[in-house]
Amino acid sequence: MDIQVRQAQLSDIPLLVKARIDFLIALGHAVTEENAAIISEQVEQFLTQHLNRDIFAWIALDGETAAATGFLTLFQGMAHVSMPSGTYGRITNMLTWPAYRSRGLARRIMNELINKAKENNVDFVNLDASDMGRPLYESLGFVDFIPKDPPMILTLNKN
Ligand SMILES: CC(C)(COP(=O)(O)OP(=O)(O)OC[C@H]1O[C@@H](n2cnc3c(N)ncnc32)[C@H](O)[C@@H]1OP(=O)(O)O)[C@@H](O)C(=O)NCCC(=O)NCCS
Repeated sequence: MDIQVRQAQLSDIPLLVKARIDFLIALGHAVTEENAAIISEQVEQFLTQHLNRDIFAWIALDGETAAATGFLTLFQGMAHVSMPSGTYGRITNMLTWPAYRSRGLARRIMNELINKAKENNVDFVNLDASDMGRPLYESLGFVDFIPKDPPMILTLNKN
């Protein structure tokens, strides 16, 4: 079976929205019908404004059927000693639907996302590694990053 891997376009947004919801479910988040609707609407609007501007996605397709996805977001901020260009990339939503796992699709998508990040001259790419994703990321050269000053958070929504 020949699976095509290509960059996502605006016409792929419905597929990318589904990938977002299925990814959250795959990671074990409690996705109710109600919050799935809210998330889907936000993701659709967000991607309509941002896709191929500061967020990029690659998709693997088996004919018309989605097999895998992954996203790269480019962020800009003030330079740091570890980030002289002030830009970095973040890889999110790596998902291979169960029927298509262990065929190298996530690896193909990761390579595309990393190439895109290199083209944009970012200083680094980072991601949050699930247990399932970790072996792949390690094999691509990702290492654990433990900041000297641990991150903190103040949650402002009621969820
Ligand atoms: C993680 C995930 C995206 C990997 O997708 P995939 O298409 O099956 O990955 P690949 O086929 O490209 O595998 C890449 C390599 O990692 C290995 N690998 C993949 N999943 C693995 C696992 N769970 N345990 C050990 N090794 C694994 C493969 O053997 C392969 O090694 P190889 O290059 O020597 O062949 C997929 O399992 C998934 O969608 N999981 C649920 C969502 C998730 O956790 N996403 C990652 C969030 S950070």
